[in-house]
Amino acid sequence: TPADATRFTIREVAARLDAGARAERCRDATFGRVFTEHMVTLRWDPDAAWHGGRVEPMAPLPLDPATVGLHYGQIVFEGLKAYRLDDGCVGVFRPDRYGERFRRSADRLMMPRLPVRDFLHAIEHLIRVDADWVPPDRDRSLYLRPLLLAADADLALRPARRYLFVLTAFVTEMFFGAKRAIDVWLSEDYVRSVPGGVGAAKYAGNYAAGYRAQAQAAEHGCDQVVWLDALERRWVEELGGMNLLFVEGEGTAARLVTPPLTGTILPGVTRESVLELAPRLGLTVAERPVSVDEWQDGCRSGRITEVFACGTAAQITSVGQVRGRDRTWQVGDGRPGPVATRLGALLADIHRGAEQAPGKWLHRI
Ligand code: COI
Repeated sequence: TPADATRFTIREVAARLDAGARAERCRDATFGRVFTEHMVTLRWDPDAAWHGGRVEPMAPLPLDPATVGLHYGQIVFEGLKAYRLDDGCVGVFRPDRYGERFRRSADRLMMPRLPVRDFLHAIEHLIRVDADWVPPDRDRSLYLRPLLLAADADLALRPARRYLFVLTAFVTEMFFGAKRAIDVWLSEDYVRSVPGGVGAAKYAGNYAAGYRAQAQAAEHGCDQVVWLDALERRWVEELGGMNLLFVEGEGTAARLVTPPLTGTILPGVTRESVLELAPRLGLTVAERPVSVDEWQDGCRSGRITEVFACGTAAQITSVGQVRGRDRTWQVGDGRPGPVATRLGALLADIHRGAEQAPGKWLHRI
């Protein structure tokens, strides 16, 4: 019988950082830099399935240079957040939804699917041992990064037979540095995803494959790239690492519009949460394709009043300017609009347990 993956052995750091040293490390919490003191690992092989769960000091992994994941890219990951709740406990936002997506991503890459229960246990273990790292500040949180890596040291071109799961966490604050609208660049030269491809999986290579376009965006003074569909280069899909939502109309007549999940877009948990919360703010919701022309015309005519990005890292971030090779336009007055601001505040209150979520969205630890 397979070993029980949920039986984790725990080895803590010999001496923990004190509060002062931790605060010092957290001074610059730029995304992905300030890691906590521990990590959780789990292994999979065909005989034992998931086994060998360990909570241990965060340290470099010993990897054979022939490790499959490093060569052929058989790697998927997740990104979710833990918040300090107003009552002092820690709440992880919708870990079941992230765990389910992790399973779908793994399945697409021919990797073993970690049961959501084990995904949750890994998170619980890490939060328990590193709870002091969950920041009390409203603009900060603990970002959890589960990673699944093909671990065979055997470069035959086939799915690996051994896998390594690693969960680390880092302290993070606002992804774009400040609460401002971002400018975006229409990617007309490069595409992110094709029908039948891996765009709906949180596959590591999707991100590196976007760097070239992201660099082009930066050359044009933009913060993010807008991905268009690969076939017609006409339909808006998503941003570099977050989904896109459009607001049509204003006040009680406002409607949220976002492209449907047809297999080329990453199914964001923040996206799905915003769609579920929208009716609370009196917004109707439509999932339908939006073309670049409709975006531009809608902004010009005033029908589209706001556009915002949403993602786990970015939360809700308004779009100010849109630039392409031969066109530029502004969304609204170029600043964060009322719908994005209200949705962002509601989401932040839910994260902190100050506002009730529609379902059991907060996993308390
Ligand atoms: C996230 O929003 O959490 C992502 O994974 C996207 C990227 C910043 C890595």
